[in-house]
Amino acid sequence: MTSPRVFVTRRLPGDAVERLRATAEVDLWEGDLPPPHDALVARTSGADGLICLLTDTVDAALLAASLRLRVISNVAVGYDNIDVAAATARGIPVGNTPGVLTETTADLAFALILAAARRIVEAERFVRDGRWRTWDPNLLLGYDAHGATIGIVGMGKIGRAVARRAEGFGMRIIYASRAPADVPYERVPLDELLARADVVTLHVPLTAETRHMIDAATLARMKRTAVLVNTARGPVVDQAALARALEEGRIAAAGVDVTEVEPIPPDDPLLRAPNVVILPHIGSASHATRERMAAMAVDNCLAGLRGERLPNCVNPEVYDTAAAREI
Ligand code: GLV
Repeated sequence: MTSPRVFVTRRLPGDAVERLRATAEVDLWEGDLPPPHDALVARTSGADGLICLLTDTVDAALLAASLRLRVISNVAVGYDNIDVAAATARGIPVGNTPGVLTETTADLAFALILAAARRIVEAERFVRDGRWRTWDPNLLLGYDAHGATIGIVGMGKIGRAVARRAEGFGMRIIYASRAPADVPYERVPLDELLARADVVTLHVPLTAETRHMIDAATLARMKRTAVLVNTARGPVVDQAALARALEEGRIAAAGVDVTEVEPIPPDDPLLRAPNVVILPHIGSASHATRERMAAMAVDNCLAGLRGERLPNCVNPEVYDTAAAREI
């Protein structure tokens, strides 16, 4: 029996890919940058499994060209890079990596809250630029995190992990979400959250509903002293509107780990806006978490190759469809 073939679109931390090699013939993209889309299509077209990243667009055209494909395994919790409806229509399960990155991402959200509110990056640059002349009662004043009201948009796993950290900082916690969550915090409509929160932090997936959820109109509802943090997906925020709001002092500061286009183009106005900390999408980037994500992605892929239910499947309805076909 020939081994199944799996295209893995980047080198992954840890030994997960080695584990995969025991079962499958691994075609590993060795580049430091993602495969261009035509290479992604070409290399996936002969594969039984695909382990991909959020930088890989898995669209209907790719799926149509990949007749052998039996499993798609994303090394991320978010899967907006994948046309899941098209995969489901083809009967292909799609896996992701929820849970393991929750705490690491919440840590980073908090790092951004503190960095933006207390102007950490700006202050560090100030020292390096040789501009520190004396202790000055007016120097680099920011906003307190302790005692502030934090508005958590999206109360899933990461939203809850951020809330636990906020409790430790003595913050008042309010949240907005599509459905009530089983948490002891006040759920409010988004508009009310924006008007009341000193810190607004986003923890929603990118969907048609959440795209540009934060735009000029919603930014205008925030306090002038408020801080916006985005560790979710860039397009949840209208970035041009955010740059304008910072420029015009309509909100105090922002911390973003994600941008509408990644990497952020060098001429993007957000790079010139004041009081913004911009990170290169490193929410889950700890050694331990990235190794766990790789291991989970390989587990999903191996299950798919064996024809078993993926341990973490975003389109479980695919199994109903398969069962229905067998009947
Ligand atoms: C990272 O952004 C992820 O979705 O895992």
